[in-house]
Amino acid sequence: MASYISSSSFTFNVIVALALLVVFTGSSSAQLSTSFYSTSCPKVFSAVRPVLINAISKAPRLGASLLRLHFHDCFVNGCDGSVLLDDTATFKGEKTAAPNNRSIRGFKIVDDIKTAVEKVCPGVVSCADILAIAARDSVVILGGPDWAVKVGRRDSKTASFTDAGNGQLPSGLSNLTELIRRFRNKGLSTQDMVALSGAHTIGQARCITFRDRIYNDTNIDSSFAKLRRSTCPRKTGGRKNLAPMDIQTPNHFDNKYFKNLLSQKGLLHSDQELYNGGSTDSLVKTYVNYPKTFNNDFVTAMINMGDIEPLTGSSGEIRKNCRRPN
Ligand code: HEM
Ligand SMILES: *[C@@H]1O[C@H](CO)[C@@H](O)[C@H](O)[C@H]1NC(C)=O
Ligand SMILES: *[C@@H]1O[C@H](CO)[C@@H](O)[C@H](O)[C@H]1NC(C)=O
Ligand SMILES: *[C@@H]1O[C@H](CO)[C@@H](O)[C@H](O)[C@H]1NC(C)=O
Repeated sequence: MASYISSSSFTFNVIVALALLVVFTGSSSAQLSTSFYSTSCPKVFSAVRPVLINAISKAPRLGASLLRLHFHDCFVNGCDGSVLLDDTATFKGEKTAAPNNRSIRGFKIVDDIKTAVEKVCPGVVSCADILAIAARDSVVILGGPDWAVKVGRRDSKTASFTDAGNGQLPSGLSNLTELIRRFRNKGLSTQDMVALSGAHTIGQARCITFRDRIYNDTNIDSSFAKLRRSTCPRKTGGRKNLAPMDIQTPNHFDNKYFKNLLSQKGLLHSDQELYNGGSTDSLVKTYVNYPKTFNNDFVTAMINMGDIEPLTGSSGEIRKNCRRPN
């Protein structure tokens, strides 16, 4: 009897200790797992992929836009699908905050993916997870590395215009110190920051985001600056004109972004900051010389970014429509 009591109190203590561990680890990212939907929605991944293959084959930039959406979701109050909420007459969400306004895109394809997923398992898969899966699939479809996506995030019931515009997201004008700081504030290392910047191997930027660089920066290749100036006038007009973030292979996920930095052909001021005589020069060179190292570090960093403050357990909800709370 005595031994029964002591073993059950031992068990009790272990349970208490584990519970405290869960509480005090803070972030609940431990609850995300690659098998979260293996019984509740085993077809989720096979429902998402064909929608994206079809859409990206017609419009490759969509892959870039979706990768960026996941980033902008995660950096503002965690990966909780908040970036997807539409404004209403009484609610101002993240979509028109400075870093996002007229800039983030891909919402229609997110709706299409959600529709496909709801068809195979209604009410089960969150919009936050759809963004994480779509980001991974986009990278794969455009020729980048593959990895198992952790899922199990739930969706926020709200979003914050203020938090999306108060300097948590990095700016294309940021210097290296500032880039490192903003990623560290989200629990991401300098290596994560440099590797994740490699996302700029795909997609486009508007003139307004690189105008100062092509007219005022001195650490820029002169023929490259001249080329970009031809569609991005110094004074007025052309604000929305696009240029590829990777001058070589803008629709292919590879390490050319880093090669461009070596020849001072980074499009954004923040891009060239990664190779401008500072502490991250050596890592940029590593990614140029060892594409596999870039791929591995990118995957690690994507998983770390996807772990930022998810809603799990009974927090939040599983939205039926990604654009509004249930
Ligand atoms: C390191 C700090 C970063 C800065 C300063 C930054 C800044 C920017 C800016 C200014 C644009 C152009 C936006 C526009 O023209 O409206 C852009 C585009 C883009 N960013 Fe970043 N970004 C950063 C990190 C990231 C990360 C971590 C990812 C994803 C993992 C990412 C993915 C993208 C993609 C794919 C595009 C092109 C989107 C499209 O074509 O629709 N960026 N970024
Ligand atoms: C978003 O951009 C548009 C067009 O430049 C502008 O009219 C609008 O005021 C901006 N919204 C916010 C909230 O800044
Ligand atoms: C980098 O940017 C921050 C924020 O804008 C600024 O305070 C700092 O002085 C800058 N550092 C350098 C070395 O330019
Ligand atoms: C470049 O720098 C000058 C002088 O500081 C400034 O007036 C101008 O607005 C900057 N940007 C461009 C695109 O010329």
